Amino acid sequence: MPLLLAGTPADLDTAARRLADGSLVALPTETVYGLGARADDDVAVARVFAAKGRPSDHPLIVHVADVAAAERYAASLPPAARKLMDAFWPGPVTVIVPRRADVGAAAAGGQDTIGLRCPGHPMARALLERAAALGVHGVAAPSANRFGRISPTRAAHVMEEFAALGEDELAVLDGGDSAVGIESAIVDCSGATPRLLRPGSLSRETLRAVLGELAERDEASPRASGTLEAHYAPRAKLRLMGTAELRSGIELLGSDLKSAPGSQPVLALYSRSPVAALLPGKRLPERMLHRPMPDDAARAAHDLFADLRELDAAGVRLIWVETPPDTSDWEGVRDRLTRAAAA
Ligand code: TXA
Ligand code: MG
Repeated sequence: MPLLLAGTPADLDTAARRLADGSLVALPTETVYGLGARADDDVAVARVFAAKGRPSDHPLIVHVADVAAAERYAASLPPAARKLMDAFWPGPVTVIVPRRADVGAAAAGGQDTIGLRCPGHPMARALLERAAALGVHGVAAPSANRFGRISPTRAAHVMEEFAALGEDELAVLDGGDSAVGIESAIVDCSGATPRLLRPGSLSRETLRAVLGELAERDEASPRASGTLEAHYAPRAKLRLMGTAELRSGIELLGSDLKSAPGSQPVLALYSRSPVAALLPGKRLPERMLHRPMPDDAARAAHDLFADLRELDAAGVRLIWVETPPDTSDWEGVRDRLTRAAAA
């Protein structure tokens, strides 16, 4: 099992030293946990790709303590990147900018751009500052999950994902629950117009208000694995359904589940509508379970990945999710659910 660290000053020193030595440290951030390695060391970065099972041409985000550290990786900081950094750093926004040719090639997966983010989680900041004191000015960190799986929002999730790694291979810093719960918004600032590659917790209106303009992702946009169709997938088959469709689905399937082999729950309903609204006057059929999705978009994002993990752990084969509202505050959650459904 990996080494679990509580985040005391001595733990942070241990974690910083491990990063400096080129080994892996999982760090808590406000979005999700990251699987970190020093970004200036191609051998250390290769350990991240190997541990995740991620193809080495999928670029990683480099985490920095401040704008000065970002400038060590950026060939230039276009005005759009500056605006986002000023407005939202430290925070859940990643900027893609032109990369300095001599740094971070492995972290960038060979792209001539680099993704940079200054996380807001106090423990991440403390770690990045201590690492900087040891000469490590950037930590390449994808979400700390195996490739294609659900991102971790708790240290226990990371321990689960990388249980096969030993104490000497990975240290996991426990910073509690990730406050945001879904990954950062990614804005490509390397072209003429800033482009939203991945929606996050900040709505596109909020981003656009700072940028003045914000284009959609298009075919020419650089590869982003978080934007692959099938991603963030639980083991169970996930389906997005409208409220009426959910109601008739439960009706149709209701009594059939009783005869399914085994005794575990087979189907999970994950909905903002309470059971009483989905099944007026009736009880939930046997072998079905219900998990409430918060009514508030920020809370729903916070709970999403932990809930999907728990439903997987309960052994259900199907997760029927009530489609979230079509408003922009829900865009990040809708995006993750749509990708999970495509897997
Ligand atoms: O919130 C987050 O962003 C978390 C935490 C740990 O910071 N990190 C994260 O990393 O979600 P990851 O690797 O799971 O997703 C990063 C996304 C990937 O889709 C990657 O392809 C894209 O960022 N990306 C990174 N650098 C890029 C670049 N130079 N050009 C285009 N996409 C890039
Ligand atoms: Mg990821």
